[in-house]
Amino acid sequence: MRARTRDWKRVAKLQAEMRRRKVDAFFVVRASNLHYLFNFMPSSGFGIVWPDHAVFVTDFRYETAAHNAVRGAKVIIHRGTLMDELKKNRHLRLEGKVAIEADHMTVDFFEALKSFNQHAQLQPLINVVEEIAACKELEELAKIQQAIKITERVLSEMVGMLRPGLMEADLATEVRYRHRKYGATGDSFDAIIASGKNSALPHAEPGKRKIQKGDFVTFDIGCVYEGYASDITRTFVIGKATPKQRKIYDLVLRANQKAIRAAKAGMDGYDLDKVARDIITKAGYGRKFGHGLGHGVGMEVHAFPRVSRLVHTKLKPNMVITIEPGVYIPGWGGVRIEDDIRIKRGGCEVMTSFPKELIEI
Ligand code: GLY
Ligand code: MN
Ligand code: MN
Repeated sequence: MRARTRDWKRVAKLQAEMRRRKVDAFFVVRASNLHYLFNFMPSSGFGIVWPDHAVFVTDFRYETAAHNAVRGAKVIIHRGTLMDELKKNRHLRLEGKVAIEADHMTVDFFEALKSFNQHAQLQPLINVVEEIAACKELEELAKIQQAIKITERVLSEMVGMLRPGLMEADLATEVRYRHRKYGATGDSFDAIIASGKNSALPHAEPGKRKIQKGDFVTFDIGCVYEGYASDITRTFVIGKATPKQRKIYDLVLRANQKAIRAAKAGMDGYDLDKVARDIITKAGYGRKFGHGLGHGVGMEVHAFPRVSRLVHTKLKPNMVITIEPGVYIPGWGGVRIEDDIRIKRGGCEVMTSFPKELIEI
């Protein structure tokens, strides 16, 4: 089985990782991992990678598209069900240690795989492809940068139109429209536009509330450009900020800036989270910063790694992560400031450039 791998290194990267982990085959079911490894994401299909070749199995609906798009693997079009193909096709027999994606394979699929391959030892693993994909190639960085550029253009237009009386949900519709207008395929997540008390809800859903004078308004928005996401948050004030609003804003901004200054390859994401968290905790608002500092961004808006006090992950060059500390005071409001950064040796590059001084509208 000849794979078109000459200019496609992603399957080879997984094969190198398989050698390191001493696994004989890797069974891929997660859609975003299929997309990353083989450049194609059908609604149904799987991939198997062996040390020297790979197959991508999907159905008739994707025959032409798969043959055109799939890289690094031979395409097999199954005529019955995926399970039939697994059972009958001798090219799909598995032996030895077979890695499976423990957090994405269904129990049903797992049981079938086990019964068709009684000589294989299925080895549940997590985040193997995700960790490889987290370190971006230059072309991927360029696509993320373009997604950021589009979102920042939209954000600056939204600031230009912000005024009391506008409804959160209408602003979200504007964001969606403008992302597409400027070249994105869509939003990378449902826009979070939260005003007044709603800004105390980190993942607020834009609703019927109308913006009022004195509100904090948080925009957390992102788009997808050629398959890659952006994810940016800025918080504004309608009118002149009160001393408390300015105090909370400056606190979150300091946490954001200090974390950005500290971020570099080799650092544990846990420690980076701590840099921001310590500032907020020292000011007495630690319990009001209830989420992690950030997460990877790539083909999905929430990608590997998590940058959080709940996990340890070593940051590596060319990972793109968010830095998004926040303080949320129920019944009063909240502030989040989110940038996307590229991890480098000895530091980082801030990919977002939208101003961060408090904008009073
Ligand atoms: N946009 C969701 C987040 O910042 O994680
Ligand atoms: Mn966000
Ligand atoms: Mn985020």
